[in-house]
Amino acid sequence: MSKKTVALPQDFILGAASSAWQTEGWSGKKEGQDSYMDLWYKNDRHVWHDGYGPAVATDLFNRYEEDVALMKQAGLTHYRTSINWSRFFTDYENGVIDEEYAAYYDRFLDAIRAAGVEPMICLEHYELPGYLFETYGGWSSKKVVELFVLYAEKVFARYHHKVTRWFTFNEPIVVQTRVYLDALRWPYQQSTDTWMQWNHHKNLATAKVVKLFREKGYQGSVGAILNPEVTYPRSSAAHDLKAAERYDLFYNRVFLDPMVKGEYPAELVRLLDHHGVKWEYTADELAIIRDNTVDELGINLYYPHRVKAPSRAWNPETPFHPAWYYEPFELPGRRMNKSRGWEIYPRIIYDMAMRIKDEYRNIPWFIAESGMGIENEGQFRDNDGVIQDDYRIAFIGEHLFEALRAREDGANCQGYMLWAFTDNVSPMNAFKNRYGLVEIDLQHQRARRLKKSASWYRGVSESRSLTLNLDDEWK
Ligand code: BG6
Repeated sequence: MSKKTVALPQDFILGAASSAWQTEGWSGKKEGQDSYMDLWYKNDRHVWHDGYGPAVATDLFNRYEEDVALMKQAGLTHYRTSINWSRFFTDYENGVIDEEYAAYYDRFLDAIRAAGVEPMICLEHYELPGYLFETYGGWSSKKVVELFVLYAEKVFARYHHKVTRWFTFNEPIVVQTRVYLDALRWPYQQSTDTWMQWNHHKNLATAKVVKLFREKGYQGSVGAILNPEVTYPRSSAAHDLKAAERYDLFYNRVFLDPMVKGEYPAELVRLLDHHGVKWEYTADELAIIRDNTVDELGINLYYPHRVKAPSRAWNPETPFHPAWYYEPFELPGRRMNKSRGWEIYPRIIYDMAMRIKDEYRNIPWFIAESGMGIENEGQFRDNDGVIQDDYRIAFIGEHLFEALRAREDGANCQGYMLWAFTDNVSPMNAFKNRYGLVEIDLQHQRARRLKKSASWYRGVSESRSLTLNLDDEWK
């Protein structure tokens, strides 16, 4: 059996992620504290796998002490989650804090820190308050930008001595892409204008929060967690290259450029204008974005994205959608995670690292999510009841290796975080695909049990070295 071993730099993050809405459940939640995700679940429950959703989730609200103990056992150096904006206030307009929820969060953060794990906190991981969605159209409204800044102000004031690494959004492009661009999620509206307005307001909100944090003089940093897809063209022919370049503009650079370089790509603005996409922005807003770029990025990287030039003309009755410029391309023979339908291609980590190094001033960044959701994981349980997730160990090993290789080649990659720490509820897929280092056993009152990968992760974390079984890659 051939093996190779690589060292992890001492300060390299080896962590795991999750989010408030996917774990905490509705215990203690008050009337009027629904998030957008809660509203979607309440309005459209039949699309959620087996009816599971945010209502109980992993019941973290009641079981955080147990989970924090497991963080230590899994060797995490860092843990990333979000604060639930929809539960943090009882009055979003006036910033009246829900003391009960805020106190829970105090205890949770204290427990994480006492376990020697560093918390990293997102202000929004899709938890836009339902009230703001229904009253103002959510991120369509400049009022919501202001209310988000008020929320950030209150959160920083309360927790700045417990948390130093903050992030405005997790995957800020996702909700509006699913709801307004592709109309795949409740309330199923198609409006490319709204999609772009949400993009812009989330960029603006990030810049305003960065500004606020600096003005207050808090210690630490403010970044964002983005999900740019490493986009490969089918071929080196000009039409395929153009398809990949346009995809990159609409889905990746629409956040990467304003957040890191302080401006929208001129070509993106030109194309939006050319296709009649209407979004409201002012010179003052663009100046705020220019002057307040983020300190660091977290990047979620799961699979490669492959495109080819479109083969059919656009139906003139269909409003503009970026797919005007591309079609998905499936690489024959690609290696797949069949449960999730995602291609596995660890090289995305290295390629993204080099892009950030060359095009985004080598800003500090880390892999904020990488992982493998597997269906029916119970089939891999051994006689002692432990899930033998060797596929996850191989997946992490190969992706982590690419991060370390990139770092040796000058990338400013600060670490690797697995999605997810425990199994949790995915949007719609709920508990179908299991991602965790820790199993949540739905048949036994959500009992927690470390999977084989958790012990392996701890070994890597403690020894600061990764050993890859090279034969595994070619099975
Ligand atoms: C990321 C999100 O897109 O991927 C998570 O930040 C999500 O919230 C994760 O759960 C895994 O994707 P999915 O669709 O399988 O849940």
